[in-house]
Amino acid sequence: MRDIHSDKILVLDFGSQYTQLIARRVREAKVYSEIMPYNVPFAKIKKFNPKGIILSGGPSSVYQKGAPICSPGIFNLNVPVLGICYGMQLMTHLFEGKVGRAEKREYGKAELYIDDDTNVLEGLGNGTVVWMSHGDKIETLPEGFSTIGHTANSPIAAMGDDQRRLYGLQFHPEVVHTHNGTKILHNFVYNICGCSATWTMKSFLDYSIENIKRKVGRRHVICALSGGVDSTVVATLVSRAVGGQLTSIFVNNGLLRKGEAEKVQNMINETLHLNLRYVDASDLFLKKLEGVTDPEKKRKIIGREFIRVFEKEAKKIGKAEFLAQGTLYPDVIESVSFKGPSATIKTHHNVGGLPTKMQFDLIEPLRELFKDEVRVLGKELAIPDEILWRQPFPGPGLAIRVLGDITEERLYILREADAIVLEEIKREGLYKDIWQSFAVLLPVKTVGVMGDERTYENVIALRAVTSMDGMTADWVKLPYELLGRISNRIINEVKGVNRVVYDISSKPPSTIEWE
Ligand code: XMP
Repeated sequence: MRDIHSDKILVLDFGSQYTQLIARRVREAKVYSEIMPYNVPFAKIKKFNPKGIILSGGPSSVYQKGAPICSPGIFNLNVPVLGICYGMQLMTHLFEGKVGRAEKREYGKAELYIDDDTNVLEGLGNGTVVWMSHGDKIETLPEGFSTIGHTANSPIAAMGDDQRRLYGLQFHPEVVHTHNGTKILHNFVYNICGCSATWTMKSFLDYSIENIKRKVGRRHVICALSGGVDSTVVATLVSRAVGGQLTSIFVNNGLLRKGEAEKVQNMINETLHLNLRYVDASDLFLKKLEGVTDPEKKRKIIGREFIRVFEKEAKKIGKAEFLAQGTLYPDVIESVSFKGPSATIKTHHNVGGLPTKMQFDLIEPLRELFKDEVRVLGKELAIPDEILWRQPFPGPGLAIRVLGDITEERLYILREADAIVLEEIKREGLYKDIWQSFAVLLPVKTVGVMGDERTYENVIALRAVTSMDGMTADWVKLPYELLGRISNRIINEVKGVNRVVYDISSKPPSTIEWE
């Protein structure tokens, strides 16, 4: 079997919002790439044994006190280094060139003119559009370097030293606004670092199956299955490796969408043929949630009960030693870019949060993958698109979309309204382009008129957002006709609703879910 990790590119993170994107672009070139913080001990870099290193951008200035600096040892490893934006300035600084403040911050598109097309800029052609975002610039090149590209505002927009195989770019090749960015990164990883394209999902699949087989042997594995992308891919993958030694547990917490429990079970049983244990714990969850209106309390109760139910089922199965779960690469990157606020905004609960006090060995086959790679892997495993392209659904389910008291009746109203929203969004062909689209049942009643009668009934709010990762989001400008159709259908078809409103808030300052 080909070693998918034989050629690796290391991305050192100096705090750029694009760091993850750099690693993803390299992986799209079928070369394995990992991100480490800029100050990672040198020994760890040596052990990783990369074939090339990319220094990310970042918000700092190299000449400021306390500016992030990586171990200069990386330049003695005899591997090529590509510095992007701050990474280029740092390289210049460390090799005793001069970095200064640009007269004007340069932000946005610029045309690049090539001075040397024999290395990273090979095959680009003059006038290609690149994306700039910097306040500092290179004033004097370090010894051994020459200018390989310039723009109207940046006389040194790209530099290189072929002898030592060191390159710097003032612009960002990883963002789509840089038209030939992929070509530049390909030049670096293939031509300059000499990597070959070994990181394919097919080879990752073979590699994972081998690994899981070796680790598990004849023992047993359990996993919590929600029907979402990550847990379905994990369960299918592990089942490919160890077959009937895996039992997947699907807990119906009574907070699922219309027809969801049945749909997921059918898919698992008929298409994916997994060994599934279905637990209907709806009554238990709804009882525990009776009279609870505080969103954090709802979340805590659901998280706690989920673990209880899961543990009870696991005991019944008895012999499992391993727990498989869908931890993804963004959850494990020790990155300096995404230092979120330390205050808990919402306690998130999902099936990934299980094992804190459970006595299992973990199997986390997706630890190295980004979300889009998980989908490709899912495709490789013949998981239907219907699952692979599902919009995210929160662990606490409809409990945080029925605002206030959760009752069977209110859950029913929300389920019916939500089903109409999804049906119409899908009919319009928008489902895949939207991060999430759903209905929320508000805890207020309003006056309406139906026929000649006064009504006093519920309000449904519609929420539809675009997002890259759920961290920030914007509301979708849905066509008026579609909004009209959804509203009409909900008011006509769902008894107990006489008003529909559309949520036009972005995150921040709002959040995606209402609770
Ligand atoms: P917010 O509402 O914080 O949501 O903007 C961001 C994303 O996370 C999802 N979400 C959750 N997912 N357990 C989950 O597994 C939770 O408790 C939870 N709360 C919110 C939400 O649907 C959105 O995609």
